[in-house]
Amino acid sequence: MASLLQSPLKALLAGVAIAAALLVATLAGTGTGIDAIGLVAVLTRWLHVGAGIIWLGMIWFVNWIQLVAIAEADQPARGAIMKHIVPRVAATFRHTSHLTIATGAVLLVTSGYLGGSLIYSSAVFIPTSRNIAMWAATLGALVMYMFVHMMIWPGLRVVLGIEKADADAVAAARAKVATYARLNLVLAVPVTLGMIVAAHA
Ligand code: HEM
Repeated sequence: MASLLQSPLKALLAGVAIAAALLVATLAGTGTGIDAIGLVAVLTRWLHVGAGIIWLGMIWFVNWIQLVAIAEADQPARGAIMKHIVPRVAATFRHTSHLTIATGAVLLVTSGYLGGSLIYSSAVFIPTSRNIAMWAATLGALVMYMFVHMMIWPGLRVVLGIEKADADAVAAARAKVATYARLNLVLAVPVTLGMIVAAHA
């Protein structure tokens, strides 16, 4: 047990094993079983929500903790944050944003919003209000994704010194990163609600 808890990866795998047991028990208990598409949809939704949680968690962390800590810290502490924390946070939200979008695209098909007749015997009927909620949320999420990869990450590369720039350019990049981090915080709230309303209304 102690060795399991020494590594986050091992702890994560333990969580996955427990979740797999829960999934098997739940599916066995339904009596009707699940077909291959249903299983893909469940696993993809699980990944999608997990990736979305981590991505939004990073957005929350950046806005409420990291930017505040950087503003309050003295120079040595700020350097330590920039060296040890910011690159890890950036890698986490970049990779989980890819996973959220990729799993979302699969869910659009398995949930019938896009090309449902490709995998089901006929198109899936979805009420207009749910369709609007889903496509509005998808659009918002794609804008968030663009902000990450076209604004925040290029700005961070300058701030972190991966790309050489003069002091003015670094200050401009820092302001750009903060602005788009804020915009992603704004968008994350309606995007999450839109996804949930589309799935459950
Ligand atoms: C910030 C990004 C996103 C977050 C936080 C997010 C979150 C969620 C959540 C919480 C659900 C509800 C799961 C459920 O209750 O069953 C969901 C479902 C879904 N999401 Fe996302 N999502 C994001 C981006 C995307 C993107 C970019 C797409 C499409 C490319 C997408 C497509 C879907 C689909 C199709 C569903 C299933 C809806 C249904 O079953 O009716 N999502 N998402």
